[in-house]
This record gives sequence, structure tokens and C-alpha cells, in this order.
Amino acid sequence: MKRDDILDWLHEEDGRRLGGLWRWADTVRGDNVGEAVHLRGLIEISNYCIRQCGYCGLRFGNHELERYRMNEEEIMACVGEAEAYGYGTVVLQSGEDYGIEAKWFESLIGRIKKETRLAVTLSLGERPDEDLETWRKAGADRYLLRFETSDNDLYRLIHPSLPGRKSNRLAILKTLKKLGYETGSGIMIGIPGQTYASLTQDLHLFQRLDLDMVGVGPYIPHSQTPLGQGKWKRMISKRDQVPNTEQMTYKVIALTRIVCPEANIPSTTALDTINREQGRELGLRRGANVVMPNLTPPPYRTQYEIYPSKGGMTEVSPDCHSLLNHRIHSIGRRVGTGRGDRVHRGRTTSPFNGMDLSFSDFIGKNKNYKLRGSKIFGLLL
Ligand code: 5AD
Repeated sequence: MKRDDILDWLHEEDGRRLGGLWRWADTVRGDNVGEAVHLRGLIEISNYCIRQCGYCGLRFGNHELERYRMNEEEIMACVGEAEAYGYGTVVLQSGEDYGIEAKWFESLIGRIKKETRLAVTLSLGERPDEDLETWRKAGADRYLLRFETSDNDLYRLIHPSLPGRKSNRLAILKTLKKLGYETGSGIMIGIPGQTYASLTQDLHLFQRLDLDMVGVGPYIPHSQTPLGQGKWKRMISKRDQVPNTEQMTYKVIALTRIVCPEANIPSTTALDTINREQGRELGLRRGANVVMPNLTPPPYRTQYEIYPSKGGMTEVSPDCHSLLNHRIHSIGRRVGTGRGDRVHRGRTTSPFNGMDLSFSDFIGKNKNYKLRGSKIFGLLL
């Protein structure tokens, strides 16, 4: 998709045309990754962090937060739960915590790989290349590291580097790919100071990086952070500021699906947080194909406060688990079996390769596409 088209869609307010965008994204999703919704069990293993990110409640400077680090047995108990629920993946996430020692973590990964058939996804921040390599060799399958925004000035403002080590997440993403990880990244939507032009660039970058996983969610202000307190400011005109709304989040999910047709895209917790009733489902119906239920034990879960009131439908207990399955079935989808690895279909196999089709191509093709075409056509013309 061309940059100008992305920009136009981000500004689109017409409900009927947006309806067309949701259907386009949903069609690209169905044709490339199918009807399965993959469940990834999220385990927030530590909320220690040495970073001072302006947006995140886990930042080092937040002294209000009680810190925790789970031990091996606690983590393995959650891993057991993921297996019992039939998930294909566990995601081990933390702040950037060097109390998680590379060697200790290597043996934990080895143990999960030996004792289960789960895919292991890591999300531990900007660790040195050697750590990433060690963990990959131990069997870790995937790594998530959002670049947050492709606008360099904004990134430097909200994400200060550590002394003597300039933060370069794009370089780390490249390393991850080279090491053979399935690689995921993403952004926040509506960061104060984020322009429509830079958001367009973010979407283009998803496509250029050929990401295996892309997570996007609304920025949610946290009162214990400089960004949440309005202290770190970047002046842009009101007209240029991207809103951190639910609607904008759906637009970005849909466009992400269109530019990265084969990627695994979660309907994120942040979206769930801003619309508890329907956020999760609407994300799934507008391009997403993954949900990450939270398996972190309750006392820790509330302490993993990246932003306020995190949670919602992803709370897991046996009851919630069946509710989640029910909600997935109620939108005509099924729960994925297996690991839910990134599919590689190649560009020519899909009748709707989102990457190469313009919106009018899509509408044109849908005229002859008996299953769903007429409705879409009727809706728009
Ligand atoms: N609002 C929304 N998302 C946030 N994250 C961190 N802080 C916030 C916030 N205040 C996201 C970042 C990070 C991921 C783990 O959580 O994108 O990469």
C-alpha cells in the first residue's frame, strides 16, 4: 500500500468507508492466516527494569511500585497451566531486568523445551546479542521487541538510552532475525507528540521489516511517568497529533494486516483495557488473529502495571478460559491448535494479497468473489 493511501485511511472518518476497511482487513486475515485464533499464555516474570521510559509504569524511577521476580518453580507452574489449557505458546515477559541472568534463563528455557511441546516467546527488552544467542540456542523460538515509534526524535525523548549504550531497537530486530528467531515488533498509538506522518512511516516499516508478529495498542497515560504527567513534551500542532482512541487502534490493526498479510497480530491487552466489552473481539474482526491470556499469578499481575487498569477479558481462571473460547466461537472463529507459527504462503497464492492490492482493486476483485463480495460491494457503492 502506498504511503498516501495509509495516510488517507488514518484520517478516514466516514463510517461506511471504514466498514470497508474492516472487511478488507478481515478478508486478508482469513485468506492468509485462516480462522484460527492462537492463544499465547503470557507470564510476566519480573517487573524490575533499569530503563527510564517516559511512558511505562515499570520504569526504574517509579518508586511507588513494589518489585517482584518469579522463581523457576513459580514460572513452571504457569507453564503447566498453559499446557493444561491447550495453548501452543508461552510468552515470558519482563522489564529489562539483568537480575534475570542469562545462564539461569538459559536453563529455564531448556527445561520448558524438554518438558513441554510449547513454543517459547521472549520479551525481555534490549538484551545484549550474546544473551539473545544463548537463549536461541537453548530453544527459544520467538522474540518480541516493539520499536514503539519510527520517529527518531520522539523515540529519543520517550526512551532514553542507557549510559554508553545507544538504544537501537532496529539493529536488535535485525540480530534476532539473523539468529533465527521469529521476530515481532510494534508500536503504541497516540503517544503525545506522535504525528500522522510518523504513524504512516511505522506501518511502512512493519512491511519493510517483514515482521512475523506485530503488536499495536493505544498509549494509555500512567500517572507515575513523565509522559503521563505531561512533563516530557514535544510540541506538534493539534491537527498532527494522533489520538490514542479505540477507533484509531482498529485502523492501525486493519492496516497492519493489509501490509503484513501473513503476520501473527494480537488483539492486545491495551485494546481490551479501553473497551472491556468488545475491544478484544473487534480487534479480532478487524485484522487480528492472536490473543494473549494472562497467566501471571494474581499478586504479581497487579504489580506488572505498565499502564493503569491493565487486564479485562485476558484474566485467566478456568471460568475465564471457557468464556474466552466461547467468545472466539461466537464471532465465527475457532481456537488454534498447535504452535501457531508464522505462515509463509508466498505472495502469489492469495487472491487478496493485501500487500499488493489497492482498496479499489480489492473492491473490484470482490465483485466476482461469490462468498463475501456482494455485501462489501453493496456496502460501499
Ligand atoms: N500505554 C500503552 N502501552 C504501553 N507499553 C508500555 N507502556 C505503555 C503505556 N503507558 C507497551 C510498550 C511496550 C509493551 C510491553 O507495552 O509498547 O513495548
